[in-house]
Amino acid sequence: MSTSEQFVRELESEVQAAIARIGAASAAGAPAAGVSIAKLLEVALKNELEASEEAAAWMTSERDVEVKLALARQCGDEAKHYRLIEARLRALGVDVAAIDPLAGGPSPVYSLLRGLETTVERIAAGPFAREALAQVRNEVFIAYCRAEGDEETALLYEETIQPDEAHHHRLGRTLLVRLATDDAARASARAAALRTLELAEELQEIARLKKGIARAPGC
Ligand SMILES: [Fe+2]
Ligand SMILES: [Fe+2]
Repeated sequence: MSTSEQFVRELESEVQAAIARIGAASAAGAPAAGVSIAKLLEVALKNELEASEEAAAWMTSERDVEVKLALARQCGDEAKHYRLIEARLRALGVDVAAIDPLAGGPSPVYSLLRGLETTVERIAAGPFAREALAQVRNEVFIAYCRAEGDEETALLYEETIQPDEAHHHRLGRTLLVRLATDDAARASARAAALRTLELAEELQEIARLKKGIARAPGC
């Protein structure tokens, strides 16, 4: 096994431990009264838009063609998720024209990711860590939709959105093995991935305390 494969395996177990904790916290309480599935889908719109934009921004400054194309694929998938969620909201009777996903400005996670300068950090934090987190959050959300009797939303996530997020994570993992070639690259990749999850955990707790948001999907 190469040293970079070894590094990615170790980072993967750290990332999975953090994600398991975040997923358990997300599933620990029900959303507050008034926080409907539609409300959680509105939260998802912003996440999807930001994930798409961040991939696009990184793509333009990228010199590695494989990474460029991985980001292009992610950018398109997240835009597709936005449209699918929007259609689901419409079917739930929500006036989607009244939703402004840019309201409130960029999220702290978006700002953190946009500030990352190197390819290895971006891949570690975005596709590798954040997309793995998205899958776990989506699993929690799918179970909640089913428990609430919303099979349509559960299926949208299960059959269409989740396979894309899994693909983004796998692409990120493959690229990370190739990019994490020395100790400096590994240290910055690890720091970027863990910082992203730490921030996501803090924000999830704030959203729960301030807005009663729980079991929300990822991107
Ligand atoms: Fe997505
Ligand atoms: Fe995603």
